[in-house]
Amino acid sequence: MLDLTPRREDLDPIEIASRDEIAALQLERLKRTLRRVYDNVPHYRRAFDAAGVHPDALSALADLAKFPFTTKEDLRANYPFGMFAVPRERIVRVHASSGTTGKPTVVGYTKGDIEVWAKVVARSIRAAGGRPGMKLHNAYGYGLFTGGLGLHYGAERLGVTTIPVSGGMTERQVQLIVDFEPDIITVTPSYMLAILDEFRRLGSDPRATSLKVGIFGAEPWTGAMRAEIESAFDMHAVDIYGLSEVMGPGVANECVETKDGLHIWEDHFYPEIIDPASGKVLPDGEMGELVFTTLTKEGMPVVRYRTRDLTRLLPGTARSMRRMEKITGRSDDMMIVRGVNVFPTQIEEQILKVKGLAPHYQIVLTREDRLDAMEVLVEAMPAAAGVDARQASAAELGHHVKGSIGVTARITVTDPGGVERSQGKARRVIDKRPKA
Ligand code: DLL
Repeated sequence: MLDLTPRREDLDPIEIASRDEIAALQLERLKRTLRRVYDNVPHYRRAFDAAGVHPDALSALADLAKFPFTTKEDLRANYPFGMFAVPRERIVRVHASSGTTGKPTVVGYTKGDIEVWAKVVARSIRAAGGRPGMKLHNAYGYGLFTGGLGLHYGAERLGVTTIPVSGGMTERQVQLIVDFEPDIITVTPSYMLAILDEFRRLGSDPRATSLKVGIFGAEPWTGAMRAEIESAFDMHAVDIYGLSEVMGPGVANECVETKDGLHIWEDHFYPEIIDPASGKVLPDGEMGELVFTTLTKEGMPVVRYRTRDLTRLLPGTARSMRRMEKITGRSDDMMIVRGVNVFPTQIEEQILKVKGLAPHYQIVLTREDRLDAMEVLVEAMPAAAGVDARQASAAELGHHVKGSIGVTARITVTDPGGVERSQGKARRVIDKRPKA
């Protein structure tokens, strides 16, 4: 794989500034944000008043802990435009995240927000090894989802030739990769695997493509999956994180030279880790729920937004800004199986250890005799699709799952192609248990 390390002089100076400089900037911006939401968003005025805090109560970054959290339910209660901090006329774009139930969550951006977003996405693509003059195949979905347009504006901003393919039509994805010879692909990791299958089906060698780096995110994926994709395509695979409520993609990104977790662009997004049960702020290094306060957003700033994503904060390496470890999972996706907490990513790691299994999987939860049961649906590799080979793969996976996670899972190994394919975010968990 090529060395794609960006030149230091091409970075934004703040990426490698001192911690003191970063903290000073954060404090100044945080004060402005608290003041802005208190003055302009009735929800925040009510919430701050109810908690007995005023924006003036913040004189150090740690004082943020005195302020109330914001949740998805707060955004829903103010659907669609009630969380905007500027007159609606100043909003030049809205996005929305679908959510599986109920109303979508709506977010709004001013011209200035779109600028900042493009800048942090450009920074993310550069961290991943992209540079002006390259070609980028963007297979994140365009539309209300932030992935497509978010990557698009950032790519143009960096000065790369942007190919707005969007998701779906997998055969055409392959054709465009072969014909347009992009250097970079941006797509969910699960859809990249569907594209990989299509290469193989068409008899085209994925290692022979022009691709140098893939920027994968919008869903959890493991280091084992990274290794799988890197070797299948002979390219780098780096992680991009973000969420609509905070901005979209480009809140944090891995650096290609270290691939050791995602540097959070802390000049725009202030992270905290909390204990999800008590809400207490945890020190760096401890695992908990990630919470973000936006520092520069105008249209819809958020204060202490609870992401439900579980990770921990680590010191900077390739940049001065802190890193977050690869997301373990969302608290919503955590399965409690006979008293043991299990995340889909833990199952993914075990699947990738078994040679006869392809990395396509789903987890089905049912209740049998008042006890939770977990079934792992996973595909056989074409070369290991015979009855005996499948049985052996199932036994091996069951053994790994029991040994590493401590739960007994029923393993069903399907034919190649037997597990639902995603064209965006994969649906990993199907919960068939009766609702309480
Ligand atoms: O998924 C934004 C995005 C688009 C990020 C493209 C990266 C690339 P939402 O649809 O609002 O926004 O979903 C946000 O997706 O809270 C996480 O649970 C999950 N997620 C996003 N990136 C990652 C990642 C976009 N790199 C939710 N690893 C977040 C794990 C991720 N989970």
